[in-house]
Amino acid sequence: MSAEIKQVYWRGGSLYVLDQRLLPHRTKYIRCGTPESVAAAIRDMALRGAPLIGGAAAYGFALAAKSLPSDPKRWWPALDRAAKTLKASRPTAVNLMHGVDHMLAAAERLLFRKEIGAVEFYKGLKEEADRFFDEDASWNRRMGELGSKLLKRGSTVITYCNTGALATCGLGTALGVIRTAYKHGKIKHVYACETRPYMQGSRLTLWELMRAGIPSTLITDNMAAHLMATERIDAIFVGSDRIAANADVANKIGTYGLSILARHHGIPFYVVAPSTTVDLRTKHGRLIPIEERSAREVVEIGGRLFAPKGAKARHPAFDVTPSRLVTAIVTERGVVRPPNARTLRKVIAPKP
Ligand code: MRU
Repeated sequence: MSAEIKQVYWRGGSLYVLDQRLLPHRTKYIRCGTPESVAAAIRDMALRGAPLIGGAAAYGFALAAKSLPSDPKRWWPALDRAAKTLKASRPTAVNLMHGVDHMLAAAERLLFRKEIGAVEFYKGLKEEADRFFDEDASWNRRMGELGSKLLKRGSTVITYCNTGALATCGLGTALGVIRTAYKHGKIKHVYACETRPYMQGSRLTLWELMRAGIPSTLITDNMAAHLMATERIDAIFVGSDRIAANADVANKIGTYGLSILARHHGIPFYVVAPSTTVDLRTKHGRLIPIEERSAREVVEIGGRLFAPKGAKARHPAFDVTPSRLVTAIVTERGVVRPPNARTLRKVIAPKP
């Protein structure tokens, strides 16, 4: 877990989740004592960001083992129910499915050991969730170093959505690279897009950047083109919720537009994501399920209506950037450049 921001913590058999809906004005934690309450926290956006959703879901699964039926034969159906509930909480970030599948495999291994007691089983799953969470944090550090190498000293970068400690189990993906590069003296300035309509950029990324003392400026999403045309922008860094086998990248709605602007202006467009974001079973980007959220989040800001009463609106929460618009994908296993089906597989699933 990040030394500075506790996105979640475990105490007394419950997962405490920092309620990101209240940021940047209030820091309050929600107690989740069951898989259902973790699933609700994910669904209702108390916590968000692909790798963090995966890490929290791992703990959510471990919580299912806290109150198993006394008959061990009924354990598996209860665990299966918990897995399904957690997986159904949000559709796009594949890290969620990965986290739950990882825990299902761990449960199977533990149950294979004959005569494991309920307490030992619960303890084993909680330890597995810790490992899963800490592994993501260590991958963040590795991606930070790899991504930092892509930048020259004194760079100005643009980032989108929130990809920092609030979106991961550690330092962050794209924001982790920016933080690492800043530490190495390579970042002069960061422009953070506000990220309409949910405002992850203004509410969360600016909060993280300012806490870290990194020189940063908030822009509305429609200002990015103007800055690219009139100032020196050295690179764009974004995260991802799912990368298909052909290296198409699903990320927060607006990412695709930003990638087109970057290509037009000849600016490198980098995606930073751990291997748990890669979904080799989904052939290409058009097959990635895109979450459709409430239109209220488009017509209202902070509960106040900003459109005529009764106005129709749409809210696809993610879009897909074709791999040809991505300069490189930074993963903990290496940098995929140029991203395509072959280069992605070579880094993520190399043949022995
Ligand atoms: O809807 P959100 O806030 O969960 O979306 C988050 C993003 O799109 C991030 O860019 C993505 O999860 C990568 S973050 C490490």
